[in-house]
Amino acid sequence: MTCDLFLPQLTADNSYTFYCQEFGETFHSQQGAKTEAEHKFVAPTRLNIKAHQPVVRILDICYGLGYNTAAALATIWAVNPDCLVEVIALESNADIPNSAINHNLLDSWEPNIRQVLTLLASNHQVKTAQCQGTLLLGDARQTIKLISSSFTADAIFLDPFSPPKCPQLWTVEFINLVAKCLNDEGILATYSAAAAVRTALQAAGLYIGNTISLGRRSPSTIATKYKLPPLSTIGQEHLLTRAAIPYRDPTLQDDTEVILHRRQQEQQTSLLEPTARWHRRTRRSFKKDP
Ligand SMILES: C[S@@+](CC[C@H](N)C(=O)[O-])C[C@H]1O[C@@H](n2cnc3c(N)ncnc32)[C@H](O)[C@@H]1O
Repeated sequence: MTCDLFLPQLTADNSYTFYCQEFGETFHSQQGAKTEAEHKFVAPTRLNIKAHQPVVRILDICYGLGYNTAAALATIWAVNPDCLVEVIALESNADIPNSAINHNLLDSWEPNIRQVLTLLASNHQVKTAQCQGTLLLGDARQTIKLISSSFTADAIFLDPFSPPKCPQLWTVEFINLVAKCLNDEGILATYSAAAAVRTALQAAGLYIGNTISLGRRSPSTIATKYKLPPLSTIGQEHLLTRAAIPYRDPTLQDDTEVILHRRQQEQQTSLLEPTARWHRRTRRSFKKDP
């Protein structure tokens, strides 16, 4: 799939996002595109602390306009301007990062950050004293294979369109390859708190945790190789319902419809409690899922 039409849309924090006609979604939350990058990706991956390292490695999955990378660079270099940041970004559509630059959507970031993003968009490669980066174009299910045995990241941003719209980047098989790119102290952050996504992260051997929510009722998710405090009772119970049946894509090549249908069939024959029934039951027992 491609996004053919890029129409800048103002979000609540005065930063712009694009709307993708083909997926029927905006690239960021309406609550604020820039704020989302900072709150859902950069803060949860603790890059302000990791910035004290001489080198920080970032894997930005679904690079899009590049906001997550831009916000990461801003945070790291505010703490330690000498930190060398290595970025690998995966994106299927080269027009999107270029379009963000042509629409001047990166103007609120410092010139050195704009320079990195401009080089990534135009040359797909950047090599400065502060940053080494590569933009790998193509289906992330294939491009991730190029790095999954050689690049281990301190921070991974997992930012596809929503699971029902882009299930191929939320499958057990894809997330398993993503998990191989996380170093032992690294943190993966994603905006999704869907039970199916959390199960796939767990199936890849990761521990999962909540992050603070931003403008949405449910929190986002972090995942690590080291132990995190357990989820709340409700959070754990949610993972025992049919919503937690993950998306699967055994050959990493199936279309959206095939992946959705496969999961639907698995849900229909599952012995797990239907999520709607669980929801009615727990709303009587628990007030909220902190
Ligand atoms: C929600 S947007 C990401 C927003 C982005 N992180 C940003 O800060 O602008 C999802 C992105 O995933 C890309 N995408 C969709 N399917 C993909 C695939 N199979 N492989 C790689 N990228 C894909 C889209 O082109 C889009 O740029």
